[in-house]
Amino acid sequence: LFIVQIAPEMAPVAKVGGLADVVFGLTRELAIRGNHVEIILPKYSGMRYDHIYDLKEVYKDLWVPWYDGAIHCTVYFGFVYDRKCFFIEPHSNDNFFNRGSIYGFKDDVLRYAFFSRAAIEFLWKSGKHPDIIHCHDWQTALVPVFLYEFYQRLGMTHPRVCLTIHNFQHQGVTGAELLKATGLHDPARFFDYNRLRDNQHPNALNLLKGGIVYSNFVTTVSPRYAYETKDQGQGFGLEPTLHTHHLKYGGVVNGIDYDVWNPEVDRHIPAQYGVDTIERKYDDKRALRHRLMLADNAKPIVAFIGRLDPQKGLDLVRHAIFYSLQRDAQFVLLGSSPYQGINEDFWNLKRMLNESPDCHLEIGFDEELSHLIYAGADMILVPSRFEPCGLTQLIALRYGTVPVVRSVGGLADTVFDKDYSHRALHERNGYVFENYDGTGLESALGRAISCYYEYPDHFRELMKNGMRSDNSWNHPGRDYLNIYDYIREK
Ligand code: ADP
Ligand code: GLC
Repeated sequence: LFIVQIAPEMAPVAKVGGLADVVFGLTRELAIRGNHVEIILPKYSGMRYDHIYDLKEVYKDLWVPWYDGAIHCTVYFGFVYDRKCFFIEPHSNDNFFNRGSIYGFKDDVLRYAFFSRAAIEFLWKSGKHPDIIHCHDWQTALVPVFLYEFYQRLGMTHPRVCLTIHNFQHQGVTGAELLKATGLHDPARFFDYNRLRDNQHPNALNLLKGGIVYSNFVTTVSPRYAYETKDQGQGFGLEPTLHTHHLKYGGVVNGIDYDVWNPEVDRHIPAQYGVDTIERKYDDKRALRHRLMLADNAKPIVAFIGRLDPQKGLDLVRHAIFYSLQRDAQFVLLGSSPYQGINEDFWNLKRMLNESPDCHLEIGFDEELSHLIYAGADMILVPSRFEPCGLTQLIALRYGTVPVVRSVGGLADTVFDKDYSHRALHERNGYVFENYDGTGLESALGRAISCYYEYPDHFRELMKNGMRSDNSWNHPGRDYLNIYDYIREK
């Protein structure tokens, strides 16, 4: 198949969250399975250009319809490792992608509506005929709308569209003026509850909703989250839309890229190890302590890595820091937030805990340090309020670091409690709690710490179970190909 991925992010060149890793990892898996895969991204001025090879201009004059005129764009091609990527650069006074960060601007919805239009205009003008277009999140949700409303009439009948929703919290909700910008002129048609009109704000458009309505198939990133969003009130207002379209909606758990995340060859950690050489993990633990100036003692290290977003359960993270110290464990945090207030809170916490030899908070984004933490820690904590999939627990499993998670979304689908899971013993790989409160958290983290001290052999088995489980792109790659086949036949 000829598959085009259209996305706002891709690791490592433009990454904010897990979506970036998914686009990078899934693409490789689809290619390994014999498909031709291309990726279309915005050309951000702040990309990691050191990871793009042979970048060159390939399409000089792409005119993309916008309001009553058109915006001139240039399209570049380059390799990111072996991934074939096109980057779209608009030349307009709006400077859509020449900004200090990827998101966080008043006109975000406009920027990505434009990118979506530009991406499909590029496919059309350059004569590409993909079998499948795979879009990601609200940022590219207008692609199937444009395809169906404009390009099919021009003769672009071929591509089928799969939309993957990585997080229902962000939907691209905006005023109806956007219709003018995008050429979706007919308000009676588009500003309708069956199409783009927001379910909760009668004066607003909802891009993600449009994507759900117009795509041939819609996935989210775990079956549990599919259920939570459609039937458990976690769809941030899109529940009725999911119900209407339930026959084309499902969940596929993400994989992680086993080349990037592999403790046997990882160049970012001093000691490489596998299941049979797991004792070398303790050299990484020592290195981590050295790097973060933690005391070298017999305590386990509990770690948190992630965006400092309320979604991630920040009050429980804070609770876990004090609880760990009190239970004779060390705590390491690596995270950053786009919200100034949250960053400040964590800076204050850091100052308060400064003197402790058993705790280190690192506020910032640091890919390399993340590898050392995954390798050096004993447990990884993911106490999210909601979690569509979550990649940190999957990476931790690969590194023999035991996940302690709340039973929601993809966490519930991938972590199986050592004591209470119905799974076979060899499949149990972590600790799970239900209630979003301090007691809930302590019930799982407490058991993990006790096991570490009192039953080290059992703890070691748990680590190995995690390392032996398969969270690569192998299964999800096959699942997506099945979905592509299914929608091609319909
Ligand atoms: P989300 O997409 O909601 O942020 P995921 O768990 O799906 O959460 O993906 C997070 C990804 O970002 C993981 O690869 C994780 O290692 C990485 N990450 C998050 N915060 C940081 C940070 N401060 N420094 C380095 N990597 C980070
Ligand atoms: C989102 C979700 C996260 C998921 C990631 C990749 O950012 O918050 O749970 O793992 O997308 O799909």
